[in-house]
Amino acid sequence: MSTDVTREFAFGLPKAELHLHLEGTLEPDLKLALARKNGVDIGQATVEEVQATYRFNDLTSFLAVYYPAMDVLQDEDDFYALAAAYFRRARANGVVRAECFFDPQAHTSRGIEIDTVIRGYHRAVVEARETGLSADLILCFLRDMSAESALETLQSALPYKHMFIGVGLDSDERDNPPTKFARVFELAREAGLHVTMHCDIDQVGSINNIRAALTELGAQRLDHGTNIVEDPSLVAYARDHGIGLTSCPLSNSFVTKEMKGKEIIELTAAGVKVSINSDDPAYFGGYVGDNYLALAQRFDLGRADLERIARNSIDIAWIPDEQKKAMHARIDSFVAQH
Ligand code: ADE
Ligand code: ZN
Repeated sequence: MSTDVTREFAFGLPKAELHLHLEGTLEPDLKLALARKNGVDIGQATVEEVQATYRFNDLTSFLAVYYPAMDVLQDEDDFYALAAAYFRRARANGVVRAECFFDPQAHTSRGIEIDTVIRGYHRAVVEARETGLSADLILCFLRDMSAESALETLQSALPYKHMFIGVGLDSDERDNPPTKFARVFELAREAGLHVTMHCDIDQVGSINNIRAALTELGAQRLDHGTNIVEDPSLVAYARDHGIGLTSCPLSNSFVTKEMKGKEIIELTAAGVKVSINSDDPAYFGGYVGDNYLALAQRFDLGRADLERIARNSIDIAWIPDEQKKAMHARIDSFVAQH
């Protein structure tokens, strides 16, 4: 292995994290502490026992572990604590901009008010900003729930519109194409919200879902989305329209046994703005610095390759141009020192 990328470089490089599920940052120790605090029986008593339940080999089996874990999140302080812990880790991973997904329906469906969820997460966002970390929230609809439920969720969230900047689509893609949610995304766009959506790896109909997301639903980014390589005309579309991809190598290697590094390299070379992110870091073995490092080591990428990926992440972030310029300047000075 001849990569010149060190751990210090991969972690220190200033970067934006654009594909991060706050619920996916629930580390075993916090899960146990919240279970104890809230009197929730999760069936395990030690970090090792919790870790042993984190066994999955595809998206469906991952989600079957992921949703029940959220039962330990009960009050506003719990949501705050979860997000605040993520922001601490993000800073240690060189993150200068974080756009974080959250899944209100995973909580409202078990009787938690959306107010509790958004206020708790938003409190941590405000605190992160006070420490110099640019941060915002993206509300995701669960695609294995109905389009009506997504519409109700959007309506109930609109009074908090100043607390999130965009909407996304996640959960199980099988039999749940993005077109199912055409109306809710149209309304979200009319409300001035940004739009992204998961186009998960190697799904049945991946390329059709990617095509619909880009050409019918107004997606500005694709979360994962590397199956776009199957259609060169869509690759050209993404390049020409500045569509960003938020790829997650460690997550990919859990749900498909491959980081999809070949696709990341091919798309980057084709001029598509691909970023690297951690998805659900408590479950997939590492935060965003670990993802940069793992990709570099596995595919022999150099510092200049990671620098390009970090610059892509800034370019496709939903922030004003002046903020982007300042973040590129931080990359300039980091690279000059390394
Ligand atoms: N929810 C959390 N992580 C997800 C992923 N990688 N794909 C779809 N839904 C998710
Ligand atoms: Zn995801």
